[in-house]
Amino acid sequence: MAATRVRFCLALLMLVASMAAWMMPSAVAGKGPPPNYADALSKCLLFYEGQRSGKLPPTQRATWRKDSALKDGQDAGVDLVGGYYDAGDNVKFGFPLAFTGTLLAWSIVEFSADMGPELVHAHEALRWVTDYLMKATTQRNRVFVQAGDPYSDHNCWERPDDMDTPRPSFQVNDTHPGSEVAGETAAALAAASIAFRSSDPAYADNLLSRAKMVYDFASKYQGSYAKSVGKWVCPFYCDVGGYEDELVWGAAWLNRATDSSDYTKHITRGIQRIQRQMKLRVNGYDSQFSWENKDAGNYILLLLMQRKDDDYSKYAQNFACSLLPKSPYKSTEYTPGGLIHRAPMANMQVVTALSFLLVVYGRHLSEVNGVVTCGKSTFPPSALIDLAKSQVDYVLGDNPLQMSYMVGYGKKFPQRIHHRAASVPSIGQHPQHLGCKDGTPYYVTDAPNPNVLVGALAGGPNDGTDNYLDNRTWSNQSEPATYVNAPFVGVLAYFSKHG
Ligand SMILES: *[C@@H]1O[C@H](CO)[C@@H](O)[C@H](O)[C@H]1NC(C)=O
Ligand SMILES: *[C@@H]1O[C@H](CO)[C@@H](O)[C@H](O)[C@H]1NC(C)=O
Ligand SMILES: *[C@@H]1O[C@H](CO)[C@@H](O)[C@H](O)[C@H]1NC(C)=O
Repeated sequence: MAATRVRFCLALLMLVASMAAWMMPSAVAGKGPPPNYADALSKCLLFYEGQRSGKLPPTQRATWRKDSALKDGQDAGVDLVGGYYDAGDNVKFGFPLAFTGTLLAWSIVEFSADMGPELVHAHEALRWVTDYLMKATTQRNRVFVQAGDPYSDHNCWERPDDMDTPRPSFQVNDTHPGSEVAGETAAALAAASIAFRSSDPAYADNLLSRAKMVYDFASKYQGSYAKSVGKWVCPFYCDVGGYEDELVWGAAWLNRATDSSDYTKHITRGIQRIQRQMKLRVNGYDSQFSWENKDAGNYILLLLMQRKDDDYSKYAQNFACSLLPKSPYKSTEYTPGGLIHRAPMANMQVVTALSFLLVVYGRHLSEVNGVVTCGKSTFPPSALIDLAKSQVDYVLGDNPLQMSYMVGYGKKFPQRIHHRAASVPSIGQHPQHLGCKDGTPYYVTDAPNPNVLVGALAGGPNDGTDNYLDNRTWSNQSEPATYVNAPFVGVLAYFSKHG
């Protein structure tokens, strides 16, 4: 799959139709037991063990997975072993991987106090990204941005453990820059330095100095990796909206990690450019936040760090006003059952990312006794928290189908996610090598996946209704991805304490 992801990028840029004002996201209520957010948090983190590439440690809990891709990077004389497989395939795409790292780190930075015993696993999940990103950025003015040939990978249905497709590595450098991927990588390293600051200060120092080096490269050599690396990254993970938002994002995280305003000029210049471009698109309101677009995330992050002369609150309010169901400026569509509907591909990534921002923003507003004003309507912080809660509860089973969209959570959950490692029998069950097309029968069968990828969030309902097919060949509904779970870690931690 993944070729269709470009359609999702385009869809993000389209303005969605307004829905009737009576439509409340919490319309479905009182069904089933209350969600167990702590259980869901634990599973949400366990998912990452199923996505691991490289040499697995003795502490590996998802034991149906084995070592894989142990030679990544050798073609370029570097060590790129480790990191995560992106989704249901076996490619390591650096751009969404770095975003996954940034959001796992942000989840820890905001909600570590709510994580209890899961903080250890959150740190492990994040370190699996940052150890890899450190390997990918050892040389000045060079970032390795991908391992694996996506065309041959997608043409096969193979377990990562006996994958035999080509594993070329791809890079950006001073002659072929990639400011979106380098900016996001800098953001991930800087955010992670905060997340590890108290538990492992030496590691945090290394992450932070690397973040500065990578950011210098991103901002000094500006350009898009779509142009520099071409068909190997596009149409899979193209940054169609441009890299300006990642340059702001990297700078914002560096300011936060260094507790300084050293990068402020990058931020103000970038925001001005983005706002100019925005006037040409959506009517001033932007509620996008994904691996492709950091706008709303930038505004909320900057609001948290706001100094005397800044005013990011109007941008943050625009974000909330475009989402809140009773806002006069709502531009977000909801399904009849109350789920945010925006993407025809892995819609759940929008749900989890926006829920994260709603919780962070809502909590901030209640700390400063603020409200959200949308024209003549005023909303208390609890309106944001309640909207996020309605999304989480929907995902965990409070929906018309009364099913959970998290594998292994609840009584009814997806059985046939679009995932190579989960759907082909494990090495333990089937030690013989299975080549490129040997996995096809496991792809097309109606039987449930033999390996339960606990914690994976399916892409979920994606056509504006609450329907879900649980069909492996419908990757637009059934594929999980690392960046879907990452913001959910923070959201679940919050509700496990404040639900
Ligand atoms: C710079 O990156 C481009 C694009 O990935 C690559 O083709 C080229 O070989 C790299 N240059 C060097 C000197 O490695
Ligand atoms: C999802 O994929 C299926 C199978 O390829 C297709 O029939 C359906 O139209 C797709 N749905 C959307 C919303 O793109
Ligand atoms: C999944 O969809 C395919 C093609 O649309 C169909 O042939 C198959 O029977 C479906 N499987 C299930 C379990 O619904």
